[in-house]
Amino acid sequence: VRLITTVEGFSKELESERSGGRSVGLVPTMGYLHGGHLSLIARARSECDTVAATIFVNPLQFGPGEDLDDYPRDLDSDLLVLGRAGADIAFAPTVREMYPEEPLARVRVEGLSEDLEGRSRPGHLEGVATVVAKLFAMAGRCRAYFGEKDYQQLLLVERLVSDLSFPVEVVRCPTVREPDGLAVSSRNSRLGDGERRTAAALYRALEAGRERVEAGERSPERVREAMVSVLAAEPGAVLDYAEVAGASDLSVPCALGDRELRLLVAATVGPVRLIDNLGVTPPGSAAAARNPGSRARDHTSDEPAARPAGGRKAAP
Ligand code: PAF
Repeated sequence: VRLITTVEGFSKELESERSGGRSVGLVPTMGYLHGGHLSLIARARSECDTVAATIFVNPLQFGPGEDLDDYPRDLDSDLLVLGRAGADIAFAPTVREMYPEEPLARVRVEGLSEDLEGRSRPGHLEGVATVVAKLFAMAGRCRAYFGEKDYQQLLLVERLVSDLSFPVEVVRCPTVREPDGLAVSSRNSRLGDGERRTAAALYRALEAGRERVEAGERSPERVREAMVSVLAAEPGAVLDYAEVAGASDLSVPCALGDRELRLLVAATVGPVRLIDNLGVTPPGSAAAARNPGSRARDHTSDEPAARPAGGRKAAP
């Protein structure tokens, strides 16, 4: 894998790939790569001629008191992982290279940044949108691979691309899960053994919500209660939110009828704040008729992790 650390070098390298007739796949990450990232790289590898991963822990998306300093980092190991996964380019700039000055221009995707993660982590999604816009501006025409694990981020990036006309095709990739359902995440490495077991409650909460919807429950509040009760039974988990939302725009549904839904949870376990989500289609809905037997397709990780695990706007 070719390591590039300058913005100019990265842009030129990708431009030269394209002028040689090669399509570019971009996988933006904050490093400390795990099975979820590997699934993004594998998908990019299968669809693009040149695969570039970016590794940058973006300070703009961490609020005061959040885990910027504790966020796990291991560039040497990431480069080995990328090489084994068949990536061609690793772009790993310093903070100074990305932000020579405090940026005055910031990107905000209205309507997708205020609630859920935006409410709990003020400024976080603006920081994400800003760095992703910069990476897209540097990378140029490409396909960009994002995981459904960060569902609000994924919707935001899709709107960023369409509203600002970046020459980028966003590719959605399913969440990768451990056998007990825990979504893989770099932050899982900071969980102790007991905390690691508790963390699986997030997925169990989502499953409880999904069962309610699939059993025909129409009340968002009762679906929410089903998710909350699973997490409330775990003394080691501190619930932040458990919500039911429209899958296309995260708006609050009045009743669960016709639309594809997304269940979203966030909770703190030990030192780590975790998020997860699951898609669900209400039975008898037009969406279910279009896609009979549909269930959210997440991957259970069948390969070892790269490292050992150590109010919203109402629907119209
Ligand atoms: O999902 C992430 O790892 C980050 O939010 C991203 C998209 C790389 C931006 O820093």
